Amino acid sequence: MPKNKDPKALIAQACRTIQGQTEIAPRLGIVLGSGLGALAERIENTQRISYDQLAGFPRPGVSGHAGMLHLGTLAGLPVACLQGRAHVYEGHAAAMAVPIRVLRQLGCRAVYLSCAAGSLNQKIPPGHLMTITDHLNMMGTSPLVGANDDAIGPRFPSLADAYDPDLTALQKSCLPTLQQGIYAAWLGPAFETPAEVRMLRILGADAVGMSVVPEVLLARHCGLKVTATAGITNYGVGMSDDPVTHEQTLTVAAQLSDRFCQLVSDFAAAFARKSVN
Ligand code: HPA
Repeated sequence: MPKNKDPKALIAQACRTIQGQTEIAPRLGIVLGSGLGALAERIENTQRISYDQLAGFPRPGVSGHAGMLHLGTLAGLPVACLQGRAHVYEGHAAAMAVPIRVLRQLGCRAVYLSCAAGSLNQKIPPGHLMTITDHLNMMGTSPLVGANDDAIGPRFPSLADAYDPDLTALQKSCLPTLQQGIYAAWLGPAFETPAEVRMLRILGADAVGMSVVPEVLLARHCGLKVTATAGITNYGVGMSDDPVTHEQTLTVAAQLSDRFCQLVSDFAAAFARKSVN
């Protein structure tokens, strides 16, 4: 987000651009993580808008992240899908502030976040999908640090039910084999050391990754419900003999992409039917 620009002005400007190009009034926002971008191809009646055209949207710099907003219908539900995110390790903790707040401003009631993650739990091996039920923020920062705009959200938002229990239940009803667990957010960009992986396991985390949590904080702050799924791509460093690399993450994410797409489509259909929103 450019400095010196009023965030509310950027949000309003991005919304005007979007609403000038589509009639879709989205009810669910979706953020696609590393290697999970294929979901965008399942969206119908799509209007695509590049982040380049949207005020305050980041320019994702990491391979596997496209930088495209897709507005359309998924299993009949009007959605706004952010294909590509900026990470805190790219240099700006609040890089996703405008996109997440734009989802709210467009009328979304909830956001479905996704990411690739490393497993910290032997019972959740690579290749599985894990719904996130809570988190440990180990990033040492928050996108909400700094002056608060009370018109956007409260100074001290609650995270008591950060991951909406009804929406978690809805995810589980769509995929009985879905794992569940606690996600530790790691600043990165370096992967963890084996000692750090041991620490996160002792603290009770089931998976570790470098995203999602800043978006959870932004979403809860502005009143969006949150549900999230991690695609487990590897074991944490030191838990297996396999080296952990970004390329390997993308390869395994591609392998679980079909199951992820089916889960989100089924969730969208169930979300449209249910009155949990
Ligand atoms: N650590 C941090 N981020 C990740 C990992 C990991 O092991 N796998 C995918 N994203």
